[in-house]
Amino acid sequence: MDKIIIRGGRRLSGTVPVSGAKNAALTLLPCALLTDEPLTLRNLPRLADIDSFQHLLNQFGVSTSIAGARPEDFGRVMTLQATRLTSTVAPYDLVRKMRASILVLGPMLARAGEATVSLPGGCAIGNRPIDLHLKALEAFGAVIELAAGYVRAHAPDGGLPGGVYTFPVVSVGATENALMAAVLATGTSTLHNAAREPEIVDLCNLLVAMGAQIEGIGTSQLVIHGVPRLHGATYMVMPDRIEAGSYACAAAITGGDVTLAGARIEDMAATIQALTEAGVHVEQTRGGLLVAANGPLRPVTLSTAPFPGFATDMQAQLMAMLCMAKGSSVLTETIFENRYMHVPELNRMGANIDAKGRTAIVHGVERIAGADVMATDLRASMSLIIAGLAAEGETRVHRVYHLDRGYERLEEKLVLLGGDVERIGGD
Ligand code: EPZ
Repeated sequence: MDKIIIRGGRRLSGTVPVSGAKNAALTLLPCALLTDEPLTLRNLPRLADIDSFQHLLNQFGVSTSIAGARPEDFGRVMTLQATRLTSTVAPYDLVRKMRASILVLGPMLARAGEATVSLPGGCAIGNRPIDLHLKALEAFGAVIELAAGYVRAHAPDGGLPGGVYTFPVVSVGATENALMAAVLATGTSTLHNAAREPEIVDLCNLLVAMGAQIEGIGTSQLVIHGVPRLHGATYMVMPDRIEAGSYACAAAITGGDVTLAGARIEDMAATIQALTEAGVHVEQTRGGLLVAANGPLRPVTLSTAPFPGFATDMQAQLMAMLCMAKGSSVLTETIFENRYMHVPELNRMGANIDAKGRTAIVHGVERIAGADVMATDLRASMSLIIAGLAAEGETRVHRVYHLDRGYERLEEKLVLLGGDVERIGGD
């Protein structure tokens, strides 16, 4: 297994391109199932999860082709076409590798009237149930049964009628599955307390580009008027607000100044607010979003929340940055039950973090030291990279396959910004 070696202490500076958003791409890809016409997605990030999703879609008979990507390019163009489906089963060995596979359930049900998808199971950050996905689909008329670790879903003859569902808690994935099921329903569907993340807006924008009729895009109430069929489209994946926020924390902790080319400021308001509170200068420039250290980091107190609140996917990275603040920060993780796997590893580097239940108190320290650390989940792994960039000496991050799921060409981008970072194979 590869490792990433970081020799800390370098200020990051310069301009880095922000890649297409992983969490948008993973819900745009299954939209190919909703039409027999070609769907072309531009700015797809080169990530392990995207490759896994492509492989899963191929299992259903979806043809995929990658165009025009030179090795040095960031991002790829993929054209997908589900002319006819040869299978409606998403098997355990594929779903267990990538939980987002569950996002084929809604579109497969809409297109084929049936879908059999392995239950995704939990992961490092929580048990990750899918009950809300299933309740929303049932509210739209699906018949759902659970058997032998699989979800078997059927639509009535003639297709899903549509319906009304109110989410008891905000769920990004369940909103996405419900949206992709409703667009081809015979009637109108309404979702209350729907997720409002920018990735949901990206999905709605693609579905509308394919001919769907959706009202309330960007709000927590979505009304979807089903249409008999959708056509193909060409669509640009939105920039990754979490990748951009991660590099912003890396710039800040190293006392650097980095321009995030392509970052969309309106997606990052809560992150920008947290960085500003921490004393970091953030400014929209012609080149992109400039993030520059501006004196010592100050402590921050915040809770994660659904959009437009502070993203849970940014919690670990912000925490790493706040390890070096002058004072104590208080972070509360309200979305997932076990998203502090990075705390013991950061403390092994000399951080002083006290995590109890959902709350972590980050007592700022003068310095942290490089160490051998273990990546556990995607965002925890990035927090170790961020800490390593500011640590004295060498940090070796093990099991970096976690990082490859969500950060396109990470070490190349950090080297581009002046970081002393290299990847070495074997373990
Ligand atoms: C998406 O996961 C993202 N993944 C996650 O990013 C992100 O952390 C999360 O949304 C929250 O923003 C992708 O988009 C591929 P949820 P998802 O359904 O859809 C509970 C990353 O690092 N819940 O919004 O699975 C759930 O347990 C990943 O890029 C139910 O109870 O998240 C959690 O407590 C990690 N029942 C809360 O809702 C359900 O049926 C929010 O989960 C579904 C969710």
